[in-house]
Amino acid sequence: MNQDELKALVGQAALQYVKPDTVIGVGTGSTVDKFIDALAASGIKIAGAVSSSVRSTERMRALGIAVLEASEVPALGVYIDGADEIDPQGHMIKGGGAALTREKIVADLAQTFVCIADASKQVPVLGKFPLPVEVIPMAAAQIARRFAELGGQAKLREGVVTDNGGLILDVHGLSITDPVAFERDINQWPGVVCVGVFARNKAQVCLLGTPTGVQQLQ
Ligand code: 5RP
Repeated sequence: MNQDELKALVGQAALQYVKPDTVIGVGTGSTVDKFIDALAASGIKIAGAVSSSVRSTERMRALGIAVLEASEVPALGVYIDGADEIDPQGHMIKGGGAALTREKIVADLAQTFVCIADASKQVPVLGKFPLPVEVIPMAAAQIARRFAELGGQAKLREGVVTDNGGLILDVHGLSITDPVAFERDINQWPGVVCVGVFARNKAQVCLLGTPTGVQQLQ
C-alpha cells in the first residue's frame, strides 16, 4: 500500500467515531480529505461539522456536509485530524498545512481528539519535522532569534498567509523532549499566535495506517 492508500485506510477507520446526528470537529490535510470523502460516501447523517480551515470547509460543502461556526457549538464529542508527527504518548506536531491555530481551537471544543495518520508520522521524540509556528508578522524576526537561542533554525514559509492573516515560521533542528512544557513556554512569547505542538490537548486516540492494517495507539 502506498502512503495515499494508508491515509484512505485511516480516513475510513475514523468513521467508527462519528455518531449520527451529532456535530463533529474536522481538521485539515490530505488525510482529513480522505476522511471527509469517506464520511460523505458513508451515508452517516451528521448534524454538521465545525471546520478548522477554508480548505476543509470547501471540501465538506462541496460534498453536501453542513459546516457550522465554532461559536454556534458549545462542545463537540469528537475532533478528527491528521498530524505531522506523533509520539508514543499522543503528543503531536501539526501545522504542515498552516491550519494549526484553528485546529487547536476546534480540538479544544472536543471531548476526544482522534488523530489519523499513516505510520510514517510516528516518532520517538518530536522535532524532526520542522515545527510550524504561526506568528504576528511584526514579531517574526524576534521570534526567529529566540528559537536560535534554543538551537532551532526558524525559516519563514514563503508565500503563505494563514486563514487568520498570520505568517508561519518552520523551525528546524529541535528535539522536543518535554512537549507540555515546550508548548506552554513558547505560547508565552509575544507575537506567537500558536505553536504547532499539541501536547496539553493531545490525541486520546491515534489510528495509524500500516501495511498490515489500522493500528490503534491509545
Ligand atoms: C494541517 C495539519 C495536518 O493535519 C498535518 O499537516 C498532516 O497533514 P497530512 O494529512 O496532509 O499529512 O496539521 O495544518
